[in-house]
Amino acid sequence: MSEKRKGFATRSIHNETHEKEYGALTFPIYQTSTIVFENAEQGGRRFALEEGGFIYSRLGNPSTAYLQEKLANLEGCEAALVLSSGMGAIGTVFMTALSAGDHVISDKVIYGCTHSLFEHHLPRFGIEVTFVDLTNDDEVKAALRENTKLIYCETPANPTLKIIDLEKVAKFAKENNLLSVVDNTVATPYLTRPKEFGIDVIVHSATKYLNGHGDVIAGAICGDLDFVMKCNLEGQKDITGSVMSPFDAFLINRGLKTLEVRMERHSKSAMAVAEFLEGHPAVKKVYYPGLASHKDHDVAKRQMNGQYSGLLAFELKGGFEDAKKVANSVKVFKLAVSLGDCESLIQHPASMTHSPYSQEDREAAGIDDGLLRASIGLENIDDIIEDLRVNLDKLV
Ligand SMILES: Cc1ncc(COP(=O)(O)O)c(C=O)c1O
Repeated sequence: MSEKRKGFATRSIHNETHEKEYGALTFPIYQTSTIVFENAEQGGRRFALEEGGFIYSRLGNPSTAYLQEKLANLEGCEAALVLSSGMGAIGTVFMTALSAGDHVISDKVIYGCTHSLFEHHLPRFGIEVTFVDLTNDDEVKAALRENTKLIYCETPANPTLKIIDLEKVAKFAKENNLLSVVDNTVATPYLTRPKEFGIDVIVHSATKYLNGHGDVIAGAICGDLDFVMKCNLEGQKDITGSVMSPFDAFLINRGLKTLEVRMERHSKSAMAVAEFLEGHPAVKKVYYPGLASHKDHDVAKRQMNGQYSGLLAFELKGGFEDAKKVANSVKVFKLAVSLGDCESLIQHPASMTHSPYSQEDREAAGIDDGLLRASIGLENIDDIIEDLRVNLDKLV
């Protein structure tokens, strides 16, 4: 009988598949670019993939492999590949899966640089992207072409926390023979596991919650073994060269050990902040999937684990002018892009993370010029709310 499957936190702390030399509690950092073969025959066998084992750290390294096993396990996928950034992961998936002449369907609300890749750069290589509202079935069907190969979204999406029904996306992808790719950065596998809804490939900016401490830029791809191997041996090895350093793998592995407790605290605090903001007279609208007022709350309830992550956004009645005043005067919140760190961060998507969008595309995606995005950190909740209250009270 197989051993009872351990819980999420236990699996994020332990990975017993790698031997730890000298009885070390934590997995060491293998800070090496290359691996010494025992003899020429062994080197040949490894290159021919007839024998497992490492060759050169652009293809794999014990420290990154250890992290990959853990991530694949947490996402419920056969395999994972870690890379030097979230954009490295997304770029590697696209360069691996697509060729000139292919077409992609993507939701309109995605991270600004991903939007820029789709809008400006993929077309230079003969790959076209149609942006749609994935919650509108008619728009999705109308976008389908004979050469459509891939469907892409984020959920919750950066920066409006739009929720996409993953079961629906996976079904549409299967019916039309498309590769479904989901950016799971904001939810993390603790809150949503896209594979369980039938999604093929999951990408992450591991810079965010997976690492959780604001000291690494990193990415990950999770999926079936064949596709992940292809991303490793073609996309990463020959095209993007987007390789994670052993030290960064060590830091993310350390961060992962507290993923569950961090996500619970981030989610609880973000819910409290969202409720506070919703009741404040200076605030026009709050975007947080945990709120009953969020338009996709029902899907979020079904798809997330009853917690909704630490990211939220809000618009002020005084528009951009008031948004600037708040961003410039908060003290506990730091005015910085990124998300998922211990520190609470606040930023202005229209001029910062989503400035690669044209004004027209931003409007179509519902990213208002007055929108502020806040990543709720792990400070004491009273301090976080007081920082907002003091500065919002000045606006009324
Ligand atoms: C949802 C999402 N995906 C991808 C990225 C890109 O990740 P990275 O900055 O690690 O390249 C970001 C960065 O902010 C993001 O927010």
